[in-house]
Amino acid sequence: MYSSAFHSGSIADKSFLITGGAGFIGSNIAEYLLKYGAGRIVVLDNLSTGFEENIKPWLGQADFSFIKGDICDLRTCLNSCERIDYVFHQAALGSVPRSIKDPLATNRVNVEGFLNVLIASRDKGVKRVVYASSSSVYGDNADLPKAEDTIGNALSPYAVSKRTNELYANVFSKNYSIELIGLRYFNIFGPRQNPKGEYAAAIPLFMDALLKNKSPFINGDGQQSRDFTFVENAVQANIKSMFCSDPKALAQVYNIALGEKTSVNELFSILKNCSGSTSEATYRESRIGDVRDSLADISKARRLIGYEPQVKIKEGLDITLNWFRNHFRP
Ligand SMILES: NC(=O)c1ccc[n+]([C@@H]2O[C@H](COP(=O)([O-])OP(=O)(O)OC[C@H]3O[C@@H](n4cnc5c(N)ncnc54)[C@H](O)[C@@H]3O)[C@@H](O)[C@H]2O)c1
Repeated sequence: MYSSAFHSGSIADKSFLITGGAGFIGSNIAEYLLKYGAGRIVVLDNLSTGFEENIKPWLGQADFSFIKGDICDLRTCLNSCERIDYVFHQAALGSVPRSIKDPLATNRVNVEGFLNVLIASRDKGVKRVVYASSSSVYGDNADLPKAEDTIGNALSPYAVSKRTNELYANVFSKNYSIELIGLRYFNIFGPRQNPKGEYAAAIPLFMDALLKNKSPFINGDGQQSRDFTFVENAVQANIKSMFCSDPKALAQVYNIALGEKTSVNELFSILKNCSGSTSEATYRESRIGDVRDSLADISKARRLIGYEPQVKIKEGLDITLNWFRNHFRP
């Protein structure tokens, strides 16, 4: 992965903080930065949904340090931002159902924690923060494809928390000298995504089940569609957002997706073919808070940050399936 660079020039003299860097997307950003010789990388993560395993190969390297800590603690955020140029903010409690079950926890981490990261970045002179938002902010707006300036009413506390991030980022951009860019991820998948637990996403759950020849669950009739996006494309968006020099690109939010929609039934059938499994899916009730269809308009990210997704769904699924085969956890 990451066979070509998404930035130009050297990053050897630059320092980066990745909050949530022991998680799925954060550890992929770390892998990219290490591959291209970043000067210093700090990961801040409390391992609540991430794993030390994800960053294990780099622990002990001079250019890499891990702070096991909570973004809900401002002092921890201030310490983590010491001598940092750029922050990739990925730490959050993901999952719509989790947020419906425990909105306070989601709010504490995703809103208060976010605010701590912004305050620490501001006070420690960080140049730019690129943060993870979500396609969930489109809520009940059924228009397709989804364009950044037309959102609907939020359908979950998780969506409220991500929208609140965008509002705070906008206010910080206006009031303080800190640069901010938000990325609305659409169903990201790839190596290191967690297949375990009640809040796991569909693709790792399907892969885990198929590799064990078990029957995975599909919520609803499986005709719901998503803009499934390989993680390398999300990493590209993060790197390009961090280094783009067009002032018009700042203080904005961008859809980060492939720009193609695939139904859950189609996804399952591709995965079944690739894995060689004979398992069939079991259908069950749809989940509350889930939208029916999702498809991103990615023209704004193309235009302003130069984002161009390179890995299509089938190729991404093959890479991911291979990774799961080699990291099989019984
Ligand atoms: N994966 C997706 O499809 C997707 C879609 C939309 C948005 N997002 C957002 O992208 C970001 C990364 O998601 P991911 O899929 O890599 O999830 P993940 O759960 O693998 O990563 C999140 C990381 O944040 C850490 N974390 C959680 N609470 C923390 C806290 N209080 N202090 C410090 N660290 C904490 C976790 O331990 C984990 O390592 C999140 O903000 C998520 O909401 C992801």
